[in-house]
Formats: sequence, C-alpha cells, structure tokens
Amino acid sequence: MSTCPTKTSEPWRIGVLFSNTGFMALIEETQLRGTLLAIEEINEAGGVNGREIVPVIYDPGSESAAFGQYAKRLMIEDGVTTIFGCYTSSSRKAVLPVVERLNGLLWYPTLYEGFEFSPNVIYTGAAPNQNSVALCRFLMEHYGNRFYFIGSDYIYPRESNRVMRELVRANGGEVVGETYVSFRAQWKDFTPIMRDVRNSSPDIIFSTVVGDATVHLYRSYADFGFDPKVMPIASLTTTEAEIRAMGFDVGEGHITAAPYFQGIGGERNSSFVARYKKRYGEDEPTNMCVEAAYFQVHIFAKALEQANSLDTDVLRPMVLGSTFEAPQGQIVINPSCAHTDLWTRIGRANRAGQFEIVRQSRRPVGADPYLVGYGRATAYA
Ligand code: ACM
Repeated sequence: MSTCPTKTSEPWRIGVLFSNTGFMALIEETQLRGTLLAIEEINEAGGVNGREIVPVIYDPGSESAAFGQYAKRLMIEDGVTTIFGCYTSSSRKAVLPVVERLNGLLWYPTLYEGFEFSPNVIYTGAAPNQNSVALCRFLMEHYGNRFYFIGSDYIYPRESNRVMRELVRANGGEVVGETYVSFRAQWKDFTPIMRDVRNSSPDIIFSTVVGDATVHLYRSYADFGFDPKVMPIASLTTTEAEIRAMGFDVGEGHITAAPYFQGIGGERNSSFVARYKKRYGEDEPTNMCVEAAYFQVHIFAKALEQANSLDTDVLRPMVLGSTFEAPQGQIVINPSCAHTDLWTRIGRANRAGQFEIVRQSRRPVGADPYLVGYGRATAYA
C-alpha cells in the first residue's frame, strides 16, 4: 500500500457573477473580462500549485435578487466557496447573507459607499475616504461650493450622497438639489432634472448614476448646452466604458475620481492595457472596474498558492495583508478591515475618451471604510 500523498489535478472551481445583459452590462461585462483575463494568465503560467482555475459563470441580468439566487446556487449546487462578483451595492447586499450563512468568500471589485464590514467579503474597490474626500476638495477648489446631486435610486447613491453632503457642508458648501432616477431611466427622464439644474445654477453636478442611465444623463446635460468648464459633472462611477458609450464629445471635460484610469502611464499599466486590448479588441478601454476585477484574481491566486485550499477559514488569513503590484501601483489588502489600500486619482475626460490625471496621491491611501480617521475636513493635513 502506497503512503504517498495523492496529488490531484482537479481544477480549482470558483464562482463568477457579473451581468452580461441588462442595464448594468455596460460596466459589469468589463469586470467579467478583467476576471477572465487574470484567470487565463494564471492558467497559462501553470495554474495554482499545478491546478487550473475554472470559473463557474452565471449572468444575473442586472437584477440584484438574481445575484443572491446565483450565489446560493454556486455554493449549494456547484460546490463553490469563493465568488468574484457584483458591481451594485444592492447586488452585494443580496449576496452578503448567502456567503455569511454558508461561510463563502465574496471578492467585490467595485467602489462603494463604505460603512460595511463582513468577514466573508474582500473589498477591492474604493471606499469614500479614497475617492469622495479628494474629489470634494478638488471640486471646491476649482469650481465652487454649490452642489447638485443626481443619483440612481438605490443604496450606493443615497449613502454616497450622505457622505458627500457631510463633506460639502463641513467645508462651507451647500447642496442645492438632490434627485434620484430609476436604474432604467431614459434620456427624457433627465429633461425635468436638467431644467431644475438650470434654475438652481449649481457649480457642480455630483452624479451617482450608474449603468446605461449614465449615458442618458450626460447626453441630456450636453443637449441643454451646459459647459463642463463651468459646471462639470463629477462622479465616482463614470469610467472610460461609460464615456465610450455616451460619445467622447459628450464626456469631454467631466471629472471622475478613481484609483485607476487607463491613461495613468507606467510600464506595468501599459503592459496590462496591451494584454487587455489583445484579448478584447483595440477599441476596448480598460477602466477602474476592470483593473480591480483583474488584480483581485491575482491576489486570490497568490493566497491560494499558500493556503492550497479554498476553505474560507484557511484562505482568508492568507489574503489579509497581501500586497500586489497592480496596474494602478502597489496595493495592499488592509488586514484591519479587508478593504484595499488604493491610489486616489482625479481625472478629467478628454476628446479621445481618456482621463487626464489632474491630481493623484503620492502613495496608496489606507482604506478607512467607516471614515474613522479622516474627520470631514477636506483641507490638506
Ligand atoms: C456601487 O453600487 N457600489 C457602485
């Protein structure tokens, strides 16, 4: 009888949940691509401890409840413990009870409103201290202090606006309008809002509109003849993907805060962009959501190599404290909160659909999802 340990070549099966269809596909499809690119790279380099990563992929069709249902199916029927997925905070909130009850691990590659911690989630997108604080400071320095909030009607915009309102007020500004639209809002739905914007004459529109509706918001703004040099739309979610969908001329001059833009330069990023374009087409830009979806799979693979197990209790400790040379620069999974220390950047969209960097942090900004250490002042420390 042999006493040799059995060596398995069974693949590592992981779950992937991003929408390929529906009103969020515009951006979630890019997260799916970033995820698959990283999996392909890892497998081409021999897999993890000699075993291939095999994704089990479902399309939740932009419906938050479907994310919860597919997460359950992945964990109960497909035997998956680790899931990469979710863009909207409402979809994350639908997956949360599933991974918490069944002790799974959700890897969440999207900026969000903060004020959440789960032992069953690794957060790799920005929290408000890594985007909203710097954005508010930049906008008040360059454009004025009267803000008009327009958001999609769900948890991220409402909570993100709560944080932004506090920042604006704490720094002597005011919110002159606040309105929410459906995920399915069309161009005509923005007409009365733009009329109200004209009457309120704010200095800045802060948009937390997501998905297809983003295109209609910016087009409606352009149709009203507003000038981004005077009153830009500022956002945490309008990436190169949304700018491409609305038209480069429509997006030009508007502002976004994010850890990553395609145009940040640097060798690691250039090589990432080249690989992405080779895989998906020359016209496909990268964006902050692709980048986070991509680097989190690489962090997972490094942790899995050490843990040699997909058991959340074994894998998670190997993830916490991980560092990675991501396209945006070096990042760290902060062990105190399982959020990621990320770079803060502010970009202004140009005529080529790229963001020119107008401000950036000198180093990664520590994740502080509960805004514990930052106070509300935007003045430089
Ligand atoms: C978001 O819903 N976290 C963008």
